[in-house]
Amino acid sequence: MATINKVLQSRQEKVIDTGNKVTVVGVGQVGMATVFSLLTQGVTNNIVMVDTNDDKLKGEMMDLQHGSAFLCNATIKAGTDYSITADSQICVIAAGVRQMEGEDRRNLVQRNVEVLKGIVPQLLKYSPNTIFLITSNPVDVLTYVTWKISGLPKHRVIGSGTNLDSARFRYLLSQKLSIAPTSCHAYIIGEHGDSSVPVWSSVNIAGVRLRDLNKNIGLDCDEENWKETHTQVVQSAYEVIKLKGYTSWAIGLSLTQLIKAILTNVASVHAVTTSLKGEHGITEDVFLSLPCVLGRNGILDVIRQPLTDVEREQLLQSAKVMAEVQSNIKF
Ligand code: NAI
Ligand code: LAC
Repeated sequence: MATINKVLQSRQEKVIDTGNKVTVVGVGQVGMATVFSLLTQGVTNNIVMVDTNDDKLKGEMMDLQHGSAFLCNATIKAGTDYSITADSQICVIAAGVRQMEGEDRRNLVQRNVEVLKGIVPQLLKYSPNTIFLITSNPVDVLTYVTWKISGLPKHRVIGSGTNLDSARFRYLLSQKLSIAPTSCHAYIIGEHGDSSVPVWSSVNIAGVRLRDLNKNIGLDCDEENWKETHTQVVQSAYEVIKLKGYTSWAIGLSLTQLIKAILTNVASVHAVTTSLKGEHGITEDVFLSLPCVLGRNGILDVIRQPLTDVEREQLLQSAKVMAEVQSNIKF
């Protein structure tokens, strides 16, 4: 100890927790893409990983710790005991089964409901003030399930929702327009996946609305067939799963963006899963994506976009599908 004391000017100050502790449950493809993205972007320097697979946990933790010299001196912990998650600002749930080729997200619902029933109470026990960020599929239904199981207020139970679908949409638009995806302002709302709704009426570049240039954009009668762009968004996960077996990098980056928005309290807007009750004429407590303002307390506000009759009808249809799936859940 004498040598160390000569090297270090002993300060003995208690480290003040910066309150940016993030727990990720499920260290599979999505969980690890998220952890790696969080660390390399410096979004947090306090990561905890939980899983049922002890060896995987320890291997991922050690491998990341060995990279500490390249990271922001992060605290990286892992374990199967949920006590290490105590006082997490955000708990990300990326645990459970994923769809195989030929399956859709809704096929996973009951299996992943069972997984969440084991995880959510444990996380809440050690972090009663946490914000849940769900990404396991079907993410919209599982966000509703987490809200029901946790009993937390709605603003603290968030699903990654169509933040990823909107990013895919912006990428595809950027390729058609030769403009950066970050300058293609476009939202997809509703269900993450098959019944998602592109809000063509508000797609714009620097305020220039594509609908003002092509009044039929997104409609079947559109001679330029922009509707195909949304079809490509819906198909993209199935294509990637067919090619590499799963999706991971884009969702990891999407979750990192959402976590950064919450931790930095910037009040930025992202399409995430929340309760749609009272929005756009929806009366059920169904959980789907709308553009929301994210901050330190989770969802600060929901943005009430003007929708065309076609867009509203598509959203109501998406809500009807989700309400049906929700009604069949066995808690
Ligand atoms: P994966 O199979 O690679 O990883 C899942 C991990 O969860 C495994 O490490 C497994 O050990 C762990 N796990 C299973 N049961 C657990 C439990 N009870 N407690 C703790 N850990 C448990 O799967 P992947 O590819 O990482 O996908 C995870 C989930 O994320 C799937 O449901 C998938 O559909 C979903 N996903 C959602 C996306 C979205 O945009 N919402 C995008 C991509 C995937
Ligand atoms: C996606 C699926 C897996 O990548 O939810 O969109």
